[in-house]
Amino acid sequence: MLLYRGSSSFRQLALVFQQIRRMDSGCVTYLIGSTMTKECAIVDPLLDTDYVAEEAKKAGLKIVYVIDTHTHADHVSGARNIARQFGLPGVHMSEKSQSRFKTIPLKDGQAIKLGEDVELKFVYTPGHTYDHMCILVNNGKILTGDTLFVGDVGRVDLGGDARDKSDKLFDSLHGKLMKLADGVEVYPAHVGAAHHLGNARTSSTIGTERENNGALKAADKDAFFKYMTEDWPPKPPDYQNIIRLNKGEASIAMV
Ligand SMILES: [Fe+2]
Repeated sequence: MLLYRGSSSFRQLALVFQQIRRMDSGCVTYLIGSTMTKECAIVDPLLDTDYVAEEAKKAGLKIVYVIDTHTHADHVSGARNIARQFGLPGVHMSEKSQSRFKTIPLKDGQAIKLGEDVELKFVYTPGHTYDHMCILVNNGKILTGDTLFVGDVGRVDLGGDARDKSDKLFDSLHGKLMKLADGVEVYPAHVGAAHHLGNARTSSTIGTERENNGALKAADKDAFFKYMTEDWPPKPPDYQNIIRLNKGEASIAMV
């Protein structure tokens, strides 16, 4: 079959999409690249960045962007190390990020491209944090960060006003993510997370989550706040220090 440049089939052919899971944590990093430009973006890398460099090398792709979906509270981000290691101008993050280090600020609706065939479009989804961006890839897959998991959503109680964040998360979920088509694939930044630790699936679709996700069943903001504040596992140990490190308010080796 002949595939023409710009056709959706061609775009899918050019797209490299890898979910990189670490066996020792529920955190997920993504590599999104183009076989045409031989370039890639890395999303939500962990501090030990060797695994990311190795995956990019194996795929024959040069890292040209590094992105954090939000200021993480459960692990120290490796994004600054990737930027330094690969000579990138900075870490792409929401314009709402309060990081002290140099970021390349992203606005709601903004897109970055890898050639003509791979597009990463940013969807501002505050709630889990005030600086959360989901990333729509070629309009067919969405990296949902810690906004939407398989079967659950990201907690709102790690700093800030939990009620305000819960209300914002409700709006982000129903006003933005649930407006997407059922077939859009969902790729979260954590697997086996939140209330439902038994969930082993690592991706989903908007339609499946619309049907099955308990957090999306809450009829209004009061019911959602109740859901968001009951029966959650303990907060990650040291989460306040992790946030300080990720904002650049404290330093550790190589960060
Ligand atoms: Fe998070």
